[in-house]
Amino acid sequence: MAAWNIAMVLLLCAGAPVTAATDGAQLYATHCAVCHGDEGAGGTGVPLSLPSFLAAVDDDFLHKTIRYGRPGRVMPAFAMLSEAQVDAIVRHIRGWSDVPAPQFAKTRVKGDVARGGRLYGEHCARCHGENGEGGEGTGVTMSRPRDMPIIAPALNNRGFLAAASDQQIRYTLEHGLDGTPMPSFREKGFTDEDIDDVVAFVRSYGQRGPSETATVGPGPVLVAESPYSLEETVENIRQAIVNQNFVHIRTEYLEHGLVPAGEEDIREVILHFCNFRFLDEALKIDPRIGLFLPCRVTAVEREGSVSVMSINPLYLSILFNNAELDEACGKMHRLYRAILEESTL
Ligand code: HEC
Ligand code: HEC
Repeated sequence: MAAWNIAMVLLLCAGAPVTAATDGAQLYATHCAVCHGDEGAGGTGVPLSLPSFLAAVDDDFLHKTIRYGRPGRVMPAFAMLSEAQVDAIVRHIRGWSDVPAPQFAKTRVKGDVARGGRLYGEHCARCHGENGEGGEGTGVTMSRPRDMPIIAPALNNRGFLAAASDQQIRYTLEHGLDGTPMPSFREKGFTDEDIDDVVAFVRSYGQRGPSETATVGPGPVLVAESPYSLEETVENIRQAIVNQNFVHIRTEYLEHGLVPAGEEDIREVILHFCNFRFLDEALKIDPRIGLFLPCRVTAVEREGSVSVMSINPLYLSILFNNAELDEACGKMHRLYRAILEESTL
């Protein structure tokens, strides 16, 4: 993953302001290409340009998938884009194939959930997981060895269930997705009834509470209260960064670049730092960690009290579901904790 792409995603994660532009190609390049590839061929994200995929999903699904993302998986929710911008991205994606966009009826598929569950266990679980939690890893081009060219998405995911209609799921089961490991179950001898039962089963994930993958252990943010003033705290963080063998890259207002210069909230300061060897090691394990590097710590003053915050790297392990990465995340977690504690002691 090019450094530039990482920078793009960092901007995206930081909630960079979105221009009013509705140029689909430009919006796609800014928000999606880093994961799904410049021409939609896939990367950290699944391929979007395959004719089989574009024949199997309607515009409503694409629109909702962009809006809701896949909570707990790597696909972000793009809540900050306008409706017109989301539509422009959908049109851009459509431009990759001559296949006309399907329009699926919103009628529910009726089936026997229990029977569908049994069929699911026999035919789907090995790829999509025992509980629909998806395959380990994500997308197509990850650094570590995997047994499948494209990782099966989570089907118990709130974002997926909110975006996909029953009829669309039915179509995907009937036809499969040519060019991916997802087979056609019509070709595998499924009857209409078999397919309906499996659709009813997949849909029932939505009635069984939030998906497994969306439940989280440790919270996403580490916080420490500082007894010092904001200026002193920032200076302490700078010192702690150096003590932990990191290079301090820069300190700026959190809103730097997001609002006109001079209008930033001066009570919110962010420090960027890096240890290039650590970065290199982590990226080799899993390029997705690039989403969270360089390291950042934020100091915020609210009503006279100052707190220091960072992301919780252990939370990333849960999102990424990669044992090797757990170790790197554990290391990062200890470093962040040390910096937070040292600067507020
Ligand atoms: C940080 C990486 C990342 C970014 C950025 C990203 N995606 Fe995704 N996207 C994914 C992953 C990973 C999946 C597969 C979800 C899963 O594994 O459960 C996915 C799934 C999807 C799907 C569903 C595909 C399917 O098979 O049903 C669509 C559509 C999609 N993304 C479109 C977009 C668009 C459009 C953008 C930009 C607005 C975008 N994504 C940005 C990683 C990303
Ligand atoms: C050999 C592995 C494999 C098997 C078996 C399999 N799938 Fe898939 N499935 C995949 C992959 C990989 C994808 C993602 C393809 C893509 O979008 O690029 C997928 C995609 C899907 C999608 C679209 C998901 C989305 O995010 O839009 C649905 C729905 C689905 N599968 C349901 C099923 C069901 C139900 C079964 C069992 C009847 C099943 N699959 C069996 C590998 C598999």
